[in-house]
Amino acid sequence: MQQAWWESSVAYQVYMRSFQDSNGDGIGDLKGVLQRLPYLQELGVDIVWLSPIYLSPNDDNGYDISDYQAIQPEYGTMEDFDALLFDAHARGMRVVMDLVVNHTSDEHPWFIESRSSKNSPQRDWYIWHDGKDGNPPNNWGSIFGGSAWELDEASGQYYLHLFSKKMPDINWENPGAREVVFDMVNWWLDKGIDGFRVDAISHIKKEDYEDLPDPDGRGCVSSFDKHLNRPGVLELLAHLKNNAFAGRDIFTVAEANGVNSTEALGWVSKKDGIFSSIFQFEHRSLWNMDGTERFSLPEIKQALSKWQDATATDGNVALVLENHDLTRCVNKFGSTGEYWKESAKCLAMMYMLQKGVPFIYQGQELGMTDADYTDVNDYRDAPAIQYYQERIDEGMSQEKSFRILKGSIRDNCRTPMQWDAQENGGFTTGTPWIAVNSNHSFINADNEQRDPDSVLNFYKKLIQIRKNTQTLILGSYRLLLPDDEQIYAYERTLGTENYLIICNVSAQEVSLTIDIPGGALIFGNYLMGLTNSLRPYECRLYRMAQKTAKEATL
Ligand code: GLC
Ligand code: CA
Repeated sequence: MQQAWWESSVAYQVYMRSFQDSNGDGIGDLKGVLQRLPYLQELGVDIVWLSPIYLSPNDDNGYDISDYQAIQPEYGTMEDFDALLFDAHARGMRVVMDLVVNHTSDEHPWFIESRSSKNSPQRDWYIWHDGKDGNPPNNWGSIFGGSAWELDEASGQYYLHLFSKKMPDINWENPGAREVVFDMVNWWLDKGIDGFRVDAISHIKKEDYEDLPDPDGRGCVSSFDKHLNRPGVLELLAHLKNNAFAGRDIFTVAEANGVNSTEALGWVSKKDGIFSSIFQFEHRSLWNMDGTERFSLPEIKQALSKWQDATATDGNVALVLENHDLTRCVNKFGSTGEYWKESAKCLAMMYMLQKGVPFIYQGQELGMTDADYTDVNDYRDAPAIQYYQERIDEGMSQEKSFRILKGSIRDNCRTPMQWDAQENGGFTTGTPWIAVNSNHSFINADNEQRDPDSVLNFYKKLIQIRKNTQTLILGSYRLLLPDDEQIYAYERTLGTENYLIICNVSAQEVSLTIDIPGGALIFGNYLMGLTNSLRPYECRLYRMAQKTAKEATL
């Protein structure tokens, strides 16, 4: 099948609030992104994904939308957006928006109308149920804590919200609700954007509204079993494809938690899938939250390789180590001490040379680290703070609850982008909405641009190599040494051309157990001499001797 433009692209996520403030109010904005487009272009970025910038009461930093066709005033105006889109296109970059349509804000006019009366023609656009003897309709818990149902006093019914109570779920079973969603999606696409990252989309299909088992008598329980990737979700999504995506040359990537690699093609087959690509996070869940134990590298390799294999001949997987919901990859898989720089580079090579569309989350290319906060008041992410308090109320020590918070809260990667060593890291001239990490004194774009050995320059080079090497874009993937606890090694092969990627994902030196006959070292993160062992977090890219045509078909 013909190669799509996005198959050779590198994507970059901008979390607007924390990227670049242009007017000193401490909040990142569209004009700030416009200022930084040359930086992204120089890095080699092809696709810029903007986290939600729509009108929102900001209960969940914009993932609660009250008007999909208006820009949040804090971020600028529609003219600012148009200017950004125009400039990005002029630079050969594409812009992908966040599409959040599992839910709206409770302040969206669709919901306000739906809530206005049981007889509203829009009542069924959301999910309304009667309570049971003064209790919610069932015992489903919300992902953000507490019950997934909220009572509407006026009508006496409850509405479903899988996330916060200010984020009511849209009823995707209702054709009228789907139609207004698709009209909005088409409006953006007609405007000329290049696609969407589609938020929380594996939750749109809800199963029967029965109670779930509650062995501990908690009252409400985790409800994923009833709404995460349930049978029928792809049928609902086919409407989205047929009414909005089909026939357009766009890039779409689904945030599809709970989807198994064996189901990948239903989601991303070029022929009859729904999306161009998919985010999977199996490899990111393989750790313990307070960071006391080392992760299992064989399990991470297995998780990533499963998805490589599932999309070997059709479909595409997004390659991702970080996003705005996760902790920083150097904290989780690498080192923030002695081998900070080596590990940031090693992780970059480990994931970015796999097959798929690589995503970089802002600051990852600098090796930015988790928030260095020591006080719960420094954090902003409401659900995590609520869980922190609940654990204490249930008897956990404050210290332990804080450790869990610190190890998992989404704010870890929402600290402002570190542009330079000045106060507030060049992010704002005012007071940032969330504090800048104090290590911006040395981890910052300005420093790293000037240092040829920096993490930033490593990313730039890696992106260039990837883009100029068809085998690293289209070639097949084969995992080597699956059980090795320290080395992540794999091959990429296209026709007679073959590349070998070897990464020592550990702080210990390890002997090199792979034969590299005739291999030419192309790139790596140690400048000084080759050794027979891999130094801490050493990574290497080899071009191997050409295979003969016969060997290549074996
Ligand atoms: C996704 C987003 C997350 C948001 C949630 C609800 O998981 O990445 O930030 O809170 O959906 O929209
Ligand atoms: Ca601003």
